[in-house]
Amino acid sequence: MLKHTHLLFVAIVVLLFIARVLIAQFKPELLAAKWMKITPHVLATLLLLTGVGLVFEGNWLAGDYGWIIAKIIAMFAFIGLGIVAIRAQGDNRWYAFAGALIVVVYIVKVAFTKQAFFFL
Ligand code: HEM
Repeated sequence: MLKHTHLLFVAIVVLLFIARVLIAQFKPELLAAKWMKITPHVLATLLLLTGVGLVFEGNWLAGDYGWIIAKIIAMFAFIGLGIVAIRAQGDNRWYAFAGALIVVVYIVKVAFTKQAFFFL
């Protein structure tokens, strides 16, 4: 149940991020609306909280929990790159956008493998 909620927030956060980058590029005036600024923070917080809830539910801190730390750090990297992708212009926007999507793929891989360094 909590896991599905977590996954639902993952889907919403990622899709909304892609939508906001496209809006920033093609209809930037829409980003000025208050709910446009607040909603992403609310959703990111809920994503983080459901993640923390899952950590306790699954008693994941009892074992090797490097992957959880990796997910949290990577999530902040995603948020940072996301901010750049929305604020920057020109090529930098797209570099940050690509970087943010790569970070998401990394997080999903870590979620499934439970290994921060699954690629080694
Ligand atoms: C953008 C951010 C995130 C993404 C894309 C993401 C993605 C996922 C995915 C795909 C799963 C399902 C894995 C599976 O079914 O085996 C999952 C589960 C989980 N996530 Fe996240 N997550 C994110 C953030 C977080 C954060 C910040 C935390 C910790 C504070 C966290 C903790 C967990 C835990 C403990 C599970 C349960 C693992 C299991 O029961 O197998 N997640 N996440």
